[in-house]
Amino acid sequence: MNTKKEVLEKNEMTLTIKSYSQNESFARSTVAAFCVQANPTLEEINDVKTAVSEAVTNCVVHAYPNSVGDILIKAEIQGNTLKVTISDWGVGIQDIKKAMEPFYTSKPEQERSGMGFTVMESFMDIVEVSAQKPNGVKVEMTKTFKSKASSSKAEDKNA
Ligand SMILES: Nc1ncnc2c1ncn2[C@@H]1O[C@H](COP(=O)(O)OP(=O)(O)OP(=O)(O)O)[C@@H](O)[C@H]1O
Ligand SMILES: [Mg+2]
Repeated sequence: MNTKKEVLEKNEMTLTIKSYSQNESFARSTVAAFCVQANPTLEEINDVKTAVSEAVTNCVVHAYPNSVGDILIKAEIQGNTLKVTISDWGVGIQDIKKAMEPFYTSKPEQERSGMGFTVMESFMDIVEVSAQKPNGVKVEMTKTFKSKASSSKAEDKNA
């Protein structure tokens, strides 16, 4: 019998995938499954899935346009806050500020709308994009789930 009261201080996962488009749904579902422990609402899980999907798709489409490379996905849960980091070692972004502007795309001929980063920003609380050394891109996204507080109170009542 486990009488120890479990307190989730910090939990982490890492996942490396090849930049095949088939792996995008696997990546988003894996992060979603991992963050269930923080008691997000269905809407919050869908927000995370959408943001991860956009970031991973960018790696597939832009980072490795003519090759297959690694995409590293790290997720960290501390309390009711999720931080997801998606890194690639691809071609990189020359002008990050411009790339993050709504409707900016370097591939209009592929009918891209240039809304990926805007979508990430609208579904997550914080989105930070930086250059990797020697090349590539790192996207760090943070979201605090609002549902945790009420769930913790329920747990306390049952303690
Ligand atoms: N991982 C990456 N590596 C290299 N370039 C990137 C990466 N992610 C984004 N970019 C650049 O930033 C631009 C904007 O990305 P964003 O996701 O907002 O739009 P998009 O991918 O072009 O279109 P959409 O996401 O709407 O299909 C891209 O067109 C691309 O030039
Ligand atoms: Mg995109």
